[in-house]
Amino acid sequence: MMPLPKTPSFRLEGRRALVTGASSGIGQGCAVALAEAGAHVVLAARGLQRLDQTIQSMHEQGYSCEALALDIADVAAVQKAVSQQGPFDILVNSAGLARHAAALDTQLEDFDTVMNVNLRGAYFLTQAVAKGLIEAGKPGSLINISSQMAHVGGVDRSVYCASKFAVEGFTKAMAIEWGRAGIRVNTVCPTFIRTPLTEQTFDQPERVRWIEEKIKMGRTGVVEDIMGSVLYLASDAAALVTGTALMVDGGWTAD
Ligand SMILES: NC(=O)c1ccc[n+]([C@@H]2O[C@H](COP(=O)([O-])OP(=O)(O)OC[C@H]3O[C@@H](n4cnc5c(N)ncnc54)[C@H](OP(=O)(O)O)[C@@H]3O)[C@@H](O)[C@H]2O)c1
Repeated sequence: MMPLPKTPSFRLEGRRALVTGASSGIGQGCAVALAEAGAHVVLAARGLQRLDQTIQSMHEQGYSCEALALDIADVAAVQKAVSQQGPFDILVNSAGLARHAAALDTQLEDFDTVMNVNLRGAYFLTQAVAKGLIEAGKPGSLINISSQMAHVGGVDRSVYCASKFAVEGFTKAMAIEWGRAGIRVNTVCPTFIRTPLTEQTFDQPERVRWIEEKIKMGRTGVVEDIMGSVLYLASDAAALVTGTALMVDGGWTAD
């Protein structure tokens, strides 16, 4: 019999994952996807109430998981938590926020708030998880939830775009640095997904028209659209995938 190639496994038994922004939206979906594939998942966010509700529902499904109260803008707290609870084989950094405004009206405080979480927080969190892996001599998969807005401009989104373009930059640079250590670093770039973050945008009919015109698949996204992409990047199926961006944008950036 001819030996056939073996499909790499999408299972994650024996792996520890850290998911930030895990109490809501995309992060919550990613936590469920990884746990369903067999990983032990540490779910992080600032507010414990929504986090505990998520954990309770996941425990009811039989998933292995625990909660971690963490503000990723607090770099010292991030470093302490990761060194105490790591090493993490998988990181999904989904904590993020937006303060949309015309570029001419951008306030310093809004700029700093967005950059502190989306860029500075993401950078030092990725660094901390990689440090833990390198010290333990382990490979890993580090995934930043970036955005289609890391590849194109968007109305009222100059600060948000700046933060996400920067995430793409450090993802590529870190992937180069840590490739030989077996640590892969990638981004997932969603289009508009219905979550608490985008509620305000979806309340504006002219923005909804803009979104529906741009998405070639003719519909906006739901959290489930992101879950498979993160599972893929976390798993051995993506063993040679690093320094890249996985667009989940319904074709927004295709033209
Ligand atoms: N929804 C979209 O259309 C879309 C599209 C492209 C990219 N994204 C990106 O996807 C990520 C998740 O967005 P989402 O739509 O899922 O948002 P969401 O529903 O508002 O959830 C945000 C999550 O991040 C947590 N969080 C916020 N600031 C934090 C901090 N400083 N430290 C730790 N956790 C923090 C929140 O919990 P606490 O407030 O309790 O901390 C919450 O769990 C973001 O990076 C966003 O930029 C979203």
